[in-house]
Amino acid sequence: MDRIRIVGGNELRGTIPISGAKNAALPLMIASLLTDETLMLHNVPHLADVEQLIRILGNHGVDYSVNGRRSSQQEGYSRTINFTAKEIVDTTAPYELVSKMRASFWVIGPLLARMGECRVSLPGGCAIGTRPVDLFIDGLRALSAEIDIEQGYIVARAKNGLVGARYAFPKVSVGATHVLMMAATLAKGETILENAAREPEVVNLAECLNAMGAKVSGAGTGTIVIEGVARLHGARVEVIPDRIETGTYAMAVAMTGGDVILEGARGDLLQSALDTLGLAGVEISETNSGLRVARNGAGIGPVEVTTEPFPGFPTDLQAQLMGLMTMAKGRSKITETIFENRFMHVQELARLGANISLSGQSAIIEGVDRLRGAPVMATDLRASVSLVIAGLAAEGETIVNRVYHLDRGFERLETKLSNCGAAIERLSS
Ligand code: UD1
Repeated sequence: MDRIRIVGGNELRGTIPISGAKNAALPLMIASLLTDETLMLHNVPHLADVEQLIRILGNHGVDYSVNGRRSSQQEGYSRTINFTAKEIVDTTAPYELVSKMRASFWVIGPLLARMGECRVSLPGGCAIGTRPVDLFIDGLRALSAEIDIEQGYIVARAKNGLVGARYAFPKVSVGATHVLMMAATLAKGETILENAAREPEVVNLAECLNAMGAKVSGAGTGTIVIEGVARLHGARVEVIPDRIETGTYAMAVAMTGGDVILEGARGDLLQSALDTLGLAGVEISETNSGLRVARNGAGIGPVEVTTEPFPGFPTDLQAQLMGLMTMAKGRSKITETIFENRFMHVQELARLGANISLSGQSAIIEGVDRLRGAPVMATDLRASVSLVIAGLAAEGETIVNRVYHLDRGFERLETKLSNCGAAIERLSS
């Protein structure tokens, strides 16, 4: 199992290219199930989760081809990939595949819309809370699907096709918004989704669906209206830059000090996180090529933050912010409202010398003057990168074990950081 070795203490200086967003690429790839023509996606990140979804889609009959030449410099970075679901050969998404990646459950929307039936395994346990699927079931039922649960599978049927309806989400869910939006594109009549997720990835999916011939409006607001059409066609769509990767590297620079251009980053995708960093004393500015992040001299100020659906502070940056606040000048408070049990990084950060106490959904972080390197364990995708951020500033050597979590969502992390002066390397075994 690969590990990452970091020797902390170096400032970051240079340029970090921001990859295509994992959380946008996944639903866009799944949207390819809605048409028998080719969906060409630009800027797809090279990540374990993307490779896994390619295998899962292949099981349903989706062919793919990777386009375009890459110079050796770009080897391993975002690519253009064509997805073609000429024929759906299997409408079952088996447990062995869905249990490996929760987002693959989202195939339920397009499979049901295009084929009128499907069998999709319930996703099963997850390291960051229970993550139920009740909203997907309620929402698809509202579109006239018949849904049964049999032996761990959701069996969904709409023999005469889905029918548009008004559905108000009782809770904001990114995944359920993606699924209902995709399903409604091929439903008869109009669907109105209220209290929909407003995340930029939802907007990117709506753009993709519209490029495929769908009639979706309002994405990015709480109300999305979808006028059903008879069929969708092929399209070319660009995956948006990864706002979580952007925020993560911004926090890494804030942690070490230095001056870095996050190339291709879009500040409007993570304004709330940038505002938080601004309050903490980090300098952030827009440039022609992306965002510039700098911290010189003065230390990091403490902050109080609560995670919220977009446009609030994202849960996917909570662990990283906590990593940063371990060395702030004072007491910070971070409250997690999206997922229960999303504090597994706390005890690992404590191994590096952080002073964090938990009280219900909140973490109180007393900033310390120094962290000391240690072996630590990655527990999930975002938690693991918070350990990297802390390790970059810790004295001596930090070894991050179970790096496969990082590889699910961060493209070439160690290369991007070492190109900016960090002492970081992958130890393969
Ligand atoms: C997506 C992101 C994930 C991010 C999360 C919240 C992807 C691949 N993943 O996950 O990185 O952390 O949004 O921004 O895009 N819920 C229910 N019932 C349901 C569905 C969800 O109660 O049927 C709850 C969840 O348990 C959670 C909350 O709703 O408490 C939000 O989850 P959701 O937005 O659905 O997260 P994902 O789409 O799985």
